Amino acid sequence: MSLTIKHLIGLHGVPSDDIQTILDTAKTFREVLERPIKKVPTLQGKTIVNLFYEDSTRTRISFELAEKRLSADTINFSKSGSSTKKGETFKDTIRNIEAMKVDMIVVRHESAGVPQFLTRISKASIINAGDGRHEHPTQALLDMYSIRERLGKLKGLKICVIGDIAHSRVALSNIFGLQTMGAQVSVCGPLTMIPQNIESLGVKIYTDISKAISENDVLNVLRIQLERKAGTSIPTLREYHNYFGITAERIEKNNKDILILHPGPINRGVEITSEVADGPYQIILDQVTNGVAIRMSVLYLLGTRQ
Ligand code: CP
Repeated sequence: MSLTIKHLIGLHGVPSDDIQTILDTAKTFREVLERPIKKVPTLQGKTIVNLFYEDSTRTRISFELAEKRLSADTINFSKSGSSTKKGETFKDTIRNIEAMKVDMIVVRHESAGVPQFLTRISKASIINAGDGRHEHPTQALLDMYSIRERLGKLKGLKICVIGDIAHSRVALSNIFGLQTMGAQVSVCGPLTMIPQNIESLGVKIYTDISKAISENDVLNVLRIQLERKAGTSIPTLREYHNYFGITAERIEKNNKDILILHPGPINRGVEITSEVADGPYQIILDQVTNGVAIRMSVLYLLGTRQ
């Protein structure tokens, strides 16, 4: 099993065979995570840099843990505490890190396109850990893994991504990845938070949350990204919650099984109530566990690619 891609920049254009290989390999690593000794020697001797220019809890820890579980040597870089503050350019930083002989770079950056740029200035294999509003491919892969684990398939499922679609890299990666695997993807939210051309991607738009809940098998609930000025697209967070919040009342009224995902971090009481976020339909912490297996899979497949 090997991938056709050298880097994982996004899921746009990634063939279904590659996605299938990543999901199937992750299943093996998911089993490793249940063992008393959760470590394999697969990437021994490989050096991986985690380059985080933007805050992260789940993705950063998940990648670092995945690298350690695969026995790779890991280096963590964050913007604060680096020589970026002394005026060093991004390109110079990368050239210096590359001079230390690294094999792979995991990068999160507030600007869309940075991982793609890295593929031009570095010989290392690049993995996008979220770039601006562009893509967050490993999040969508762990979402797909978690859905498939619960529902046994992706093909033919109806999946609605709810919330701040315009500011979301998770939404775009979900759309590309899930469609490639044969799922029907829709979005739901205020029109001010939905990109105007999204229908051209084959995505249905809902503005009625109850209809979105009743017509779909899976809801992927997103956070309002206040750090990306999403607050200017809605009158107030309370208003957003009243019209689009995932509440126990709305879920129970639906009267059928539904699977609820959230990439985190959660803003409790805004896009989802605590009752639902901790309730029987959600798989939020399973997503986090599966995220380590997905990242092990991606690192292994790219790190051992001939
Ligand atoms: N889901 C996700 O990307 O979370 P973090 O920002 O904490 O990494």
